[in-house]
Amino acid sequence: KPRIAVLISGSGSNLQALLDAAAQGALAGEISAVISNRNDAYGLQRAAAAGLEQHVVDHRNYPDRESFDAALVAKLKELDTDIVVLAGFMRILTPTFIEPFWGRLLNIHPSLLPAFRGLHTHQRALEEQVSEHGCTVHFVTPELDAGPSIIQGVIRVTEQDTEQTLQRRTQRMEHLIYPRAVDWLSSGRLELDGNLPRLDGEQLRSPVRL
Ligand code: GAR
Repeated sequence: KPRIAVLISGSGSNLQALLDAAAQGALAGEISAVISNRNDAYGLQRAAAAGLEQHVVDHRNYPDRESFDAALVAKLKELDTDIVVLAGFMRILTPTFIEPFWGRLLNIHPSLLPAFRGLHTHQRALEEQVSEHGCTVHFVTPELDAGPSIIQGVIRVTEQDTEQTLQRRTQRMEHLIYPRAVDWLSSGRLELDGNLPRLDGEQLRSPVRL
């Protein structure tokens, strides 16, 4: 089974969704390690509860992004990692990290990319009065939140919505789509060919929508 490392910075609810999927036999890969850049991330407790190896690589111990990324890569290699899943990992990654894991590195972002890259996505969706919002799983490439999209979870936005309600519904969608995408990648159904994502051998011209 491919070995999957999950990188977190916070609550780890997406990590939990992946652990639950693995426990139900719905993941082709095996979650082999959890790495956090913060030692107080609640997700580390979820990892412990699941009996998983946990590691902290604190970005504050490194003088710049390059050296932090090099330390992460070294740790991931030491752990024999095949696939890296970013799950609320709130650090910008450089090519030092991205290149060694090209095509084997996924992120989940709380918007329907290419809309609302970056932070405060729910607030911005409300400000722009969009009718649809949601989340996207994409391959990570050097441009922030701009790698090829794989699957999106779509929610409808109503006039009653607030940042909190959008966040809650978006996260519920995240927990559905992320295990699915990770299963596709770890089973070999999904691959990145140059910059083109393929699912079951077919080029994905637009993300699968759920
Ligand atoms: C998720 O909503 C994820 O989409 C977002 O952080 C949250 C982490 O929640 N990621 C980003 O904003 C990445 N720029 P979790 O720790 O409960 O999985």
